[in-house]
Amino acid sequence: MDVVVVDDAAAVGEHVAGLVSGMVERDPGLVLGVATGATMLPAYRALARGSGDLSRVHIVALDEYVGVPAAHPASFAAYVEREIVVPLGIPQHQVVVPQGSGEELERRIEEVGGVALQLLGIGRNGHLAFNEPGSPLDARSRVVALSETTRQDNAGSFGDERVPTHAMTQGLGTILEAGRLVLLATGEAKAEAVVAALTGPVTPDCPASVVQWHPRVTVVLDVAAASALQRRRSVEGAERERVHHPQL
Ligand code: GLP
Repeated sequence: MDVVVVDDAAAVGEHVAGLVSGMVERDPGLVLGVATGATMLPAYRALARGSGDLSRVHIVALDEYVGVPAAHPASFAAYVEREIVVPLGIPQHQVVVPQGSGEELERRIEEVGGVALQLLGIGRNGHLAFNEPGSPLDARSRVVALSETTRQDNAGSFGDERVPTHAMTQGLGTILEAGRLVLLATGEAKAEAVVAALTGPVTPDCPASVVQWHPRVTVVLDVAAASALQRRRSVEGAERERVHHPQL
């Protein structure tokens, strides 16, 4: 697992855009798994500013609300169209956004040959995609109930409309089948989820902890999201010092 810490959210976006562009240069028809949310936006905008030709890239979205029409501005289909597909010049027929059943989503992922590079955010409660705490670590794509934390965090997109209670999401088992994972986190609010996901036990209590099982993971953090990780490492370092120098 590579952990990269950069100054701020813009630098996270630039770094991730560089990783994606490099993979597209080597594989112009790359199957790119995309996450939604605020964390991802600087990366998508940096990609749109880039000079690479992304028109042969296939896009597979991680999740989608249940009961929200694709045309609704708060739907993840609308986010993917607005923030990724149009700015990057990707044809619509190369885009997969969850709709219908979990089995249908799994079939469509298989049809494009599986996800080669999966971009991931992380929820404050450690959720991955919409796999909330308690999700089976080998779960497949399915409809899930959203936690109150997640509904609160995502309420901004719905204004005074009711926030959905359920979503269709790729399962943790599905996500782990991607060729490579790139997990992004920015801001102090994600610091505890990050340290639990990267250094805690692999457990359904912190669904993002499954990334520890994947052989090719890059974690890109800003200083704020890495703050708990840095604190933990300095404590461990001091403990190691004490062991070597008991008089400290
Ligand atoms: C939603 C999405 C996740 C995303 C998370 C964090 O729950 N389903 O894929 O990682 O929000 O969003 P943000 O980056 O806005 O904090």
